[in-house]
Amino acid sequence: MLRVVVLVSGGGTNLQAVMDAISAGSVTNTKLVGVISNNKTVKSLERARSAGIPAFSVSPKDYADRALFNEALLAKVDEMQPDLVVLAGFLVAVPPAMVARYSGRIINIHPALIPSFCGVGYYGLKVHEKALERGVKVTGATVHFVTEGMDEGPIISQKPVCVEDDDTPEVLQRRVMEQAEWILLPQAIDDIANGRIRTENGRVVRTQ
Ligand code: GAR
Repeated sequence: MLRVVVLVSGGGTNLQAVMDAISAGSVTNTKLVGVISNNKTVKSLERARSAGIPAFSVSPKDYADRALFNEALLAKVDEMQPDLVVLAGFLVAVPPAMVARYSGRIINIHPALIPSFCGVGYYGLKVHEKALERGVKVTGATVHFVTEGMDEGPIISQKPVCVEDDDTPEVLQRRVMEQAEWILLPQAIDDIANGRIRTENGRVVRTQ
C-alpha cells in the first residue's frame, strides 16, 4: 500500500478527484494517510475530514520566519511516514529540505503544458490569465516529479486542452481541471502505486 500525503492550499478539487478515484477503485494500492494545508480554513481540509482522512494546517502565519515554517511543515509530513507526497494545488514553495528528503517521491500537478506558463509566479488562476494573454490555442496540465527548480522535474504525464475565443481565466481553469487535471493526477498516483513508471536520465518511462 502506497502511503500518500497530500499538500493543498485551496479548494481541493484535485484532492477530491484523488479521493473519488480511490473510492471508485480506479486508483489502487493507495492509502491517503493525511492532508496538510498552509491555510487554516480551506475547503480541502473539510473535504479530507469528511472522508475520514486526518487533516492539518501548518500556516506560515504561526511561525516567526520561513525557516521555522519549513521545519514545522516537514515535521508534519514526516510524522505521517508517506511513501509519496502529492502537491495538489499547494501554492507555497516546497522547503528544499523536503525536496532532498523525499527525492523522487514528491509529485505536483501544474495547470499548463510545462515548459509553457510555469516557474516562479505561475500558479493557480495566474497561469490561465497568462495563457489567454499570450493567445495560445492549446493549453493543458502536467504532472511531474518535484526537484529543486520550480516546475523543472521529470514529467510524468501531460494532457492538452483547447482554448476557446471567449474564455475567461475562470472558464479556462475549470476546463483544464475537468478535461486534464482530475484525470491525470489520480492516474499518476495509480501508476506510481503499481510500479508502472520509473525515471531514467531525468525522463519518466513506462515499465508496463
Ligand atoms: C489547480 O489548478 C492546480 O493545478 C494549481 O492550483 C489549482 C488548485 O485547485 N496548481 C498550481 O498552480 C501549482 N503551480 P484545487 O485546490 O481545486 O485542486
